[in-house]
Amino acid sequence: MEIQQDISLKKYNTFGIDAKAKFFCEINSIDALKKALALKGYPNLFVLGGGSNMLITKDLENLVLHINLKGIEVVSENNDEVVIKVNAGENWHNMVLWTLDHNYGGLENLSLIPGNTGTAPIQNIGAYGVELKDTFVSCEAMEIGTQKLKTFTKEECQFGYRDSYFKNEGLGKYIITSVSFKLTKRKHTLHVGYGAIVSELQNSGITEPSIGDVSNAVISIRKSKLPDPKELGNSGSFFKNPVVNRQQFENFTKLYPNAPYYKISENEFKIPAGWLIEQCGFKGKRFGDAGVHKNQALVLVNYGNATGAEIIELAEKIMESVAQRFGISIVPEVNIIK
Ligand code: EPU
Repeated sequence: MEIQQDISLKKYNTFGIDAKAKFFCEINSIDALKKALALKGYPNLFVLGGGSNMLITKDLENLVLHINLKGIEVVSENNDEVVIKVNAGENWHNMVLWTLDHNYGGLENLSLIPGNTGTAPIQNIGAYGVELKDTFVSCEAMEIGTQKLKTFTKEECQFGYRDSYFKNEGLGKYIITSVSFKLTKRKHTLHVGYGAIVSELQNSGITEPSIGDVSNAVISIRKSKLPDPKELGNSGSFFKNPVVNRQQFENFTKLYPNAPYYKISENEFKIPAGWLIEQCGFKGKRFGDAGVHKNQALVLVNYGNATGAEIIELAEKIMESVAQRFGISIVPEVNIIK
């Protein structure tokens, strides 16, 4: 276990923000993690996974632990289902491709999501009608204070929309080291109801899609709407879609009858923040090196040398504008590191 100093984090965060870590340590084993957590004399810890859901706004004075635990194993299986255990440092999309190579179904709608597997449960990643929680069995996490491993069941993770125990009571207390999923080996349940998937499959002339076809459809939709972090720095959706109550929703649809929305329950309606932001005229706009993506207004981008502060400034401008025009407040989905 080697501790490096003054390391640029540019290649470790998908926004491509060039901030430095005062101390940096690559974690390749559970043992190394235990040792690093027990170190004395270093500043506060900062746990870094795939760096795909964060905006760094300044140099970090911390000891940054880059969780790089690798490996995927089959834990149990029968004729119909398999449980796999994936170590936290496995790239999410490569792991999804691995499951598809083995004809394991359940994660295909979550293809091409940036980031690592170990951080996926923290915000219960989701896309195209599927969330991580749908196939999640449990995860293992090391308690920072005691260096003991604990298994969290699905219930204990308290998953919600882009939310979990690890963003609330568990915040800053645990490092997820592996995640287990239950996947199907046959009679896969396909989730193809999402409009864009339906048209993508139709355009390809596919009437009886396989899990691989669904994955390909998702990949092609994502590529058309969402920028590739390797080409243009970004953190996916920068904001959460706001949820409003029935009264607010009725007032809103009277004024904007054509606005898209998703009904969650009798009293809860989700309004796409991307639509609200587009209506405020921000889609495709650029302010210095900070900008709003041209194909999906929910995504803020770094054209090269934007600082975290410049991205925040743009985000605040957007939040203010949406609040003024629609009376709806939107909040960031990414973790802002201040
Ligand atoms: N829309 C616009 N303008 C835009 C963007 C969207 O009018 O610039 C409208 C679309 O036309 C559509 C609606 O808003 O009617 C929803 O758009 P989309 O299907 O692109 O989904 P989203 O609600 O904007 C969410 C997730 C994405 C996920 C997609 C697909 C959140 C915060 N975001 O976006 O997740 O890929 O659904 O399921 O829930 C991410 O978290 O990083 C992410 C990309």
